Amino acid sequence: MKDVLIMGIESSCDETSVAIVKNGREVLSNCINSQIKIHEEYGGVVPEIASRCHTEVINSIMKRALKEANITMEEIDAISVTQGPGLVGALLVGVSYAKGLSYVTKKPLIAVNHIEGHIAGNYLTYKELEPPFICLIISGGHTHLIRVKSYNDFQVLGKTKDDAIGEAFDKVARVIGLGYPGGPKVDELAKKGNPSIKLPVTHLENLDFSFSGIKTAVINLNHKSSDINKADLCCSFQVAVTNMLLTNVRKAIDMFNADKIVIAGGVSRNSFIRDSFNNLEKEKNVKVYYPEPVLCTDNAAMIASAGYYNYIIGERADLKLNAIPNLKIGE
Ligand code: KG4
Ligand code: ZN
Repeated sequence: MKDVLIMGIESSCDETSVAIVKNGREVLSNCINSQIKIHEEYGGVVPEIASRCHTEVINSIMKRALKEANITMEEIDAISVTQGPGLVGALLVGVSYAKGLSYVTKKPLIAVNHIEGHIAGNYLTYKELEPPFICLIISGGHTHLIRVKSYNDFQVLGKTKDDAIGEAFDKVARVIGLGYPGGPKVDELAKKGNPSIKLPVTHLENLDFSFSGIKTAVINLNHKSSDINKADLCCSFQVAVTNMLLTNVRKAIDMFNADKIVIAGGVSRNSFIRDSFNNLEKEKNVKVYYPEPVLCTDNAAMIASAGYYNYIIGERADLKLNAIPNLKIGE
């Protein structure tokens, strides 16, 4: 069978990325321009600035992606782009660019759900991984527990009722003065602490999550006692949120007799979460997967992989494609 080369375009938040992926599994290039340095001084992503930065760099990132993959635009089979969820202005840059490119090159246009992209990040790391499996997506904007029945069939088992887990990590880091993005900084500092501080852990009856209670508790504790040990606070926070994740994942394993647990999204870079989920392998007799670090956070290779699985079942978008900031998965 002829190889299928998909170009992926991602601009849903603060990373502008273009990638070329072969047959949904092999990364030929994955160029990422992160805006972290620009947003750092504001303590978080400023949507207006994000959109402007995407516009400035997207064309040169696209050219670099082709060059690094050593292929020409003519060889590309289809262009896939993140349609949502994400920041509307940021998404619009990628969607408009992809539409223009598709029009000029006459290549098919494929719309991709960013959350499906995060799941597909694992297909790039594990060539043998196939659905069905249970996937936990933990990122700056999302916390979803999903039953991936096939490459294109998703059942949402649970999601956060309030904050995404990454948002909680970033907020905790901000209030204790660690800066943005907070996740990796909390991860590092927690290694020097102990889980000695009692924090409220929310376990809902269904498979949903809630992180606002623990986030507020950390903020209040930090305000009340300025001499609190910050490493202990980070460590206690990390242990508590990991327990919340594990509880629901254990329930899902039992409910569906699952043998594969797939973790995805930026927070899946967290070292404590990775170690804890590794322990599930023995405890629950399952295999645990998570993408290599660069494929955990936002990147276009995962969008190209998800795009490939839409492409081969004949899904096509047209020039009416619009960004959908609150695009859902599995509905
Ligand atoms: O997937 P992602 O790039 O963006 C969204 O789709 O939201 O995830 C970004 C999030 C940020 O909240 C960041 O703090 C978090 O991933 N993150 C981490 C770690 N590395 C990145 N959180 C905890 N520990 C880490 N090591
Ligand atoms: Zn993401």
